[in-house]
Amino acid sequence: TDEACSSFTRLSFHSAVVGTELNVKLLLYTRKNLTCAQTVNSTAFGNLNVTKKTTFIVHGFRLTGSPPVWIGDLVDGLLFVEDMNVVVVDWNRGATTVIYTHAASKTKKVAVVLKEFIDQMLAKGASLDNIYMIGVSLGAHISGFVGEMYDGQLGRITGLDPAGPLFTGSPPQDRLDPSDAQFVDVIHSDIDALGYREPLGNIDFYPNGGSDQPGCPKTIFGGFQYFKCDHQRSVYLYLSSLTEDCTITAYPCDSYRDYRSGKCVSCLTPQKESCPLLGYYADHWKDYLKEKDPPMTKAFFDTAEEKPFCMYHYFVDILTWNKNIRRGDITIKLRDKAGNTTESKINHEPATFQKYHQVSLLARFNQDLDKVAAISLMFSTGSVVGPKYKLRILRMKLRSLAHPERPQLCRYDLVLTENVETVFQPILCPKLQM
Ligand SMILES: *[C@@H]1O[C@H](CO)[C@@H](O)[C@H](O)[C@H]1NC(C)=O
Ligand SMILES: *[C@@H]1O[C@H](CO)[C@@H](O)[C@H](O)[C@H]1NC(C)=O
Ligand SMILES: *[C@@H]1O[C@H](CO)[C@@H](O)[C@H](O)[C@H]1NC(C)=O
Ligand SMILES: *[C@@H]1O[C@H](CO)[C@@H](O)[C@H](O)[C@H]1NC(C)=O
Repeated sequence: TDEACSSFTRLSFHSAVVGTELNVKLLLYTRKNLTCAQTVNSTAFGNLNVTKKTTFIVHGFRLTGSPPVWIGDLVDGLLFVEDMNVVVVDWNRGATTVIYTHAASKTKKVAVVLKEFIDQMLAKGASLDNIYMIGVSLGAHISGFVGEMYDGQLGRITGLDPAGPLFTGSPPQDRLDPSDAQFVDVIHSDIDALGYREPLGNIDFYPNGGSDQPGCPKTIFGGFQYFKCDHQRSVYLYLSSLTEDCTITAYPCDSYRDYRSGKCVSCLTPQKESCPLLGYYADHWKDYLKEKDPPMTKAFFDTAEEKPFCMYHYFVDILTWNKNIRRGDITIKLRDKAGNTTESKINHEPATFQKYHQVSLLARFNQDLDKVAAISLMFSTGSVVGPKYKLRILRMKLRSLAHPERPQLCRYDLVLTENVETVFQPILCPKLQM
């Protein structure tokens, strides 16, 4: 028992240049052995207890040969929330190459190695129901291949930004698909570059629409982060579900555009039933999502730039009485009694305000202020020349989406002058209101 701890294979960029031969190493972590991994294989199970849930973590393409930076946090997070076996599938030898195609061509071989191992687990009494695979990028497709070999009887697969290049458009047997496990959930965070655009699971989460993630460099001048930041965000979002900082609710919707215009945020009551949580606990919605025909749902949500990624949604209903139609954006700030302020990030298309028509804006805030003492509104048409327009508001109403039980806040008869901040104290809306 005095053997040294095993660790993830660390290679140099030189290895990536010359290429590496496939070698799959399985590193076992348990609650009893949180920091010291044991190498296991189909003949040596070490501390693996087959009666417990087993989660496999499968990484993707490695350009530099270094271990994935998030792997330790993912292992710790999983073992924090549940007593299970966590097996890190280290195929760094194989994944490390400057030529993506070479890494991608090894994915089916990695799946075969995992199949051999899982077969032995089953022989020792494990159940497929208890097997969970978390695959990142190419690892998501590897997980799909393993699942396919068990005819979709694996408990669950989570795909974290499944790789797009070389996989996009391929038939289901050559990529992750919803029939690969009893429940397949996917987070897409880089659909316009390294990730996969189309849905691949029973539920497909598209944070911030799935392409550009807030806080990630938008140009190549952002250096190496420019290439991987959006792609890796899926992992960090999943990780956030393992810590108790905040929970991210996602809204089933046909498109991000519809979500941004507030069409999909009123979940059925009880709310929890139709709007799933992102991440580890998404499987609580398994039965609900699998009942759908086809059993595939797309869900959208927005995030903050950094940990904790949660945003808090409010509806701002605005009823205007301008004679002419006005188009523009409204910036909203909230302040509580303690003086905390938070500003909404509404950067959707300009809203159209028409006489006696109510416009419902979906506002997202980084902080959830419980007792709002003051609201500030600023109207802007985006034009810097020409007359300053006014927006005449008959009634504005602020309501929290996450906490529909909180009192709704109202204010009547306001005139907003373009680009001028108007601050006021809201009052409670009358109880019985249309
Ligand atoms: C943890 O793993 C190491 C390496 O395999 C082993 O030497 C040690 O006995 C393990 N500790 C426990 C509590 O199982
Ligand atoms: C499995 O691991 C054991 C102990 O580390 C080792 O002796 C054995 O050769 C390995 N078997 C295979 C098939 O790699
Ligand atoms: C394996 O896990 C089961 C269920 O958690 C537990 O009852 C049992 O004692 C464990 N076996 C060992 C050898 O730790
Ligand atoms: C509001 O401010 C107080 C005092 O500065 C701070 O302790 C509290 O955490 C803040 N609340 C929120 C929701 O940020």
